[in-house]
Amino acid sequence: MGRFTEKVVFITGSSKGIGRSLAVEMLSQGAIVVINGRNTDQLNSTAEMLRQHGGEVLPVPGDVSDTTIFRSALTAIKDRFGRLDILVLNAGLSSYGAVERTSDTSIENVMRVNTTGPYTCARDVLPMIRESRGSIVFISSLAGIHGIPYSSLYSMSKMSLTALAQSLRTELTGERIHIGIIYVGFTRNDPDKTAVSPDGTIKKLQDRPGWVQQSQERVAKLIARSIRRRRFRTTLSAMGKVMAFASRYFPRLFQFSMRGMLKKARELTKDPESSSG
Ligand SMILES: NC(=O)c1ccc[n+]([C@@H]2O[C@H](COP(=O)([O-])OP(=O)(O)OC[C@H]3O[C@@H](n4cnc5c(N)ncnc54)[C@H](OP(=O)(O)O)[C@@H]3O)[C@@H](O)[C@H]2O)c1
Repeated sequence: MGRFTEKVVFITGSSKGIGRSLAVEMLSQGAIVVINGRNTDQLNSTAEMLRQHGGEVLPVPGDVSDTTIFRSALTAIKDRFGRLDILVLNAGLSSYGAVERTSDTSIENVMRVNTTGPYTCARDVLPMIRESRGSIVFISSLAGIHGIPYSSLYSMSKMSLTALAQSLRTELTGERIHIGIIYVGFTRNDPDKTAVSPDGTIKKLQDRPGWVQQSQERVAKLIARSIRRRRFRTTLSAMGKVMAFASRYFPRLFQFSMRGMLKKARELTKDPESSSG
């Protein structure tokens, strides 16, 4: 028997990357998995791959930051399984660029997918999660712990998830609903991973140095463990833990060390390609 046997888990943005690895992990622990992404071909091919791991997989296509689409996904889950135990709000866009150069289009797009999308999804899923006494889990980033130069928009969008998770958790006191937020560290990306550039166009990300990155499989295992233990706050990777500690207890020293990152950050986020996110 797996640790998530018979649990219905909906992972937004799971046709690729970390979400797809989390779907594999959840299936291996006995869950029924609902996967999602905007590109239907990619989503269906991921569903095929996942079914080879055994277990039940339901693909629900569409942009989950659109409330109509998200609500119809919930209806499809209710019709098929009658319940939802865990919602992982993983869909997210990376972005990069100096504040001065960031266009309105980038701001609108990133904030809609990374911030207001998770807000409306968390709001709309509550009745189903209340019934199952389940979990709502937000996927944040190290950039959600402290503002990162040349990733201000991404940082702002991920930091706002902390406020949402904290508020929601307090509002639901005594309800036996689990709210979690996971600050994921640098993770090995799919080769075709993209990001929103300052002018709003989508560009391919540069490769990052391998040694700073965790594998998607490792990250998926740690996310699953955090959900199983119903933890509120989980910071992944040694770098994330140091960052969280130093920014909290030694803010001036930390700010100074961030200045040291400036040159590297500038290089990495230069157009036409970037490695932020
Ligand atoms: N990779 C890292 O190093 C890292 C580090 C920290 C945190 N994170 C966070 O982890 C999460 C996953 O990152 P990743 O690197 O795995 O990203 P990824 O490889 O770009 O995959 C993103 C997934 O989300 C889907 N998606 C994007 N926008 C969507 C939307 N509006 N509605 C539905 N699906 C959507 C994509 O499919 P479609 O494009 O077909 O929609 C894809 O399946 C994100 O929230 C990211 O911010 C990543």
